[in-house]
Amino acid sequence: MADEAGERIFLCASGDLAEGGTGVAFEVLYRGEKLRAFAVRWHGQAHAYLNRCTHVQTELDYREGHFFDAARELLVCATHGAVFEPDTGCCVGGPGRGPLVKVSLSEEDGKVYWHTAAQLHPPTT
Ligand code: FES
Repeated sequence: MADEAGERIFLCASGDLAEGGTGVAFEVLYRGEKLRAFAVRWHGQAHAYLNRCTHVQTELDYREGHFFDAARELLVCATHGAVFEPDTGCCVGGPGRGPLVKVSLSEEDGKVYWHTAAQLHPPTT
């Protein structure tokens, strides 16, 4: 399905994203580079970002899938502790330089989908 919002690609079942729980990884092609992205659920809504810190371009999770801080209120980079808002990706503490790159999601009939964008595609295309 293609429209202004991009192509919709199945990501996972809604139940795979537990509130404040571990993230679900998926792969994307971003600006021609194959990267991992992740989805989490926070305050009932699913959110997804490229798994790339804005401090040093490394993945955020030292333990795979663990993105939340202890209070489950912020996403935290395990390398130097930059913290990001789960709903916007804005950096609100630590050495991060700007927001995480957001991946649009939608949720319908118990399924979560991610959406392609101008510089964001499935890795096979
Ligand atoms: S690499 Fe993420 S805070 Fe430094």
